[in-house]
Amino acid sequence: MIVNGKTCRTIWPDPDNNEIIKIIDQRWLPHKIIIEDLKTVDDFATAIKDMHVRGAGLIGATAGYAMYIAVLKAPKTNPGEFTEYLNNAAQQLIATRPTAVNLKWAVDRMLESLKRVSLKEAQEEAFKEATAIADEDAEFCKSIGQHGLDIIKKISEEKKGKLVNILTHCNAGWLAFVDYGSATAPIYAAQEAGIAVHVYVDVTGPRNQGARLTAWEFEHNNISYTLVADNTGGHLMQKELVDIVIVGTDRTLYTGYVANKIGTYLKALAAKDNNVPFYVALPSSTFDWKRRTPKEIIIEERGGEEVKYARGWDESVGKYTKVLLTPKNAKAANYAFDVTPPYLITGLITDKGVCKPNERAIRKLYNK
Ligand code: MRU
Repeated sequence: MIVNGKTCRTIWPDPDNNEIIKIIDQRWLPHKIIIEDLKTVDDFATAIKDMHVRGAGLIGATAGYAMYIAVLKAPKTNPGEFTEYLNNAAQQLIATRPTAVNLKWAVDRMLESLKRVSLKEAQEEAFKEATAIADEDAEFCKSIGQHGLDIIKKISEEKKGKLVNILTHCNAGWLAFVDYGSATAPIYAAQEAGIAVHVYVDVTGPRNQGARLTAWEFEHNNISYTLVADNTGGHLMQKELVDIVIVGTDRTLYTGYVANKIGTYLKALAAKDNNVPFYVALPSSTFDWKRRTPKEIIIEERGGEEVKYARGWDESVGKYTKVLLTPKNAKAANYAFDVTPPYLITGLITDKGVCKPNERAIRKLYNK
């Protein structure tokens, strides 16, 4: 995607030294672009846990590179010690964020790939596999864009070329992946195809990924958008101002249940009540092929201070500041995700095509 006129990914190896992995530290967006160097497994674990990087695909790609760094750092004289070091790194990483399935998926894929090679070849193999995870993530998203484009094109034709209004929640854009994004890929593809699109972007409290990140992405890539408070979607739909909802997901069960940023379920309910098509965009890496029911999904609970405090840019002094919104001792619960049941979802836009959110359709699409 484009930042200040230049194409950019969210994670990449340092071109002069591939023992350093670079990320955009998203805590500073939209007011500062800070590139962070990750050099140790601890650096990676902190970056994922404290959300310097976030979003399903990017968490997966970061975990892939983290395992490559683990291979670099692991003792290599004794195969037992090597494996133990890698397994500990894997556990440390998996514990950082429980809901996004891409994290464990990427760690397992790295461990699996290392089983195919000797200790001597491990470093090269790990770099190759981590790079493949990152490259594939970008390719998956590009392909989601093409499949989603067909849906937006159809709406545009039905509206005889009038503006297509899309509502999205949180940030399932390129900042949540390596490139393109999931929910945003069809939007970028539609814009490129010359279709008139406009996006309502939910602010998405309490961390405001919509206001801070999706808005920033759209600014840099010339997408027309309007920010709305999280509770506005239902009203917009009643006023027929939304033609389609497209959201991302952090984990989608093979039975069609979708875990996504808190508040997604309420958008899906409003969409159902107003006959607005509700689509979820995801790469194959975000399917959970093991869990069947929503009860089995671990919903991340974050600290209450994210709800109690607001962080923003103080224009008078030109720096970020944090302010308390609530009574000092207010208790706050902070569930990061909710689960939307399949009956509220019109379809899943995947890298392989669009399908209904049910086991038969999903298995058929992925030949599983
Ligand atoms: O807590 P985050 O920011 O890592 O949450 C992830 C998200 O941005 C959303 O839930 C998104 O819609 C799905 S991730 C592609």
